[in-house]
Amino acid sequence: MENCQCSHGGAALGPGVGEAAGRDLAQPSRRGFFHVCMAAMTGIAALVVAFPIFSFLRLPKRIHTAKSIEVPLAGLSESQALFFEREGTQIVLIYTNKEAKAYDAACTHLGCLVSWDQNDRVFRCPCHGAVFDDQGAAVKGPVNMPLKKVKLEINKGVLVIA
Ligand code: FES
Repeated sequence: MENCQCSHGGAALGPGVGEAAGRDLAQPSRRGFFHVCMAAMTGIAALVVAFPIFSFLRLPKRIHTAKSIEVPLAGLSESQALFFEREGTQIVLIYTNKEAKAYDAACTHLGCLVSWDQNDRVFRCPCHGAVFDDQGAAVKGPVNMPLKKVKLEINKGVLVIA
């Protein structure tokens, strides 16, 4: 057995003992680094998953906020949809077959906001695939209740949702 050159003056402990002690001291920091990396990757993965979901659920881009909604009839074109926010309720106004209709844009399944598919002239819910026709009736998906109608009036060529 060799004599140790360190301060305790005793015999060397051998290569296995010293390495094991060094590893014990180093492991917590490696483990900590590993945990930080795992947490960072988990956070990034959560963002990657959450971003498309929130993109689907976000409000339509063209949204108007008002207490009373007034839209000139002459400004509407066939199959057009306009989204409004009124006192916390999302309202969609559509103009089809020369008739204006307004609905609460919340899907009657679980409340996601529907979007208007101008080509197929239907409302589509991004959450579970419900489809509503331009009369608000449910035609597909896990829903059997129509979109809730919102009362509108025409006053001197202006649509008013009060
Ligand atoms: S919330 Fe619209 S289909 Fe489920």
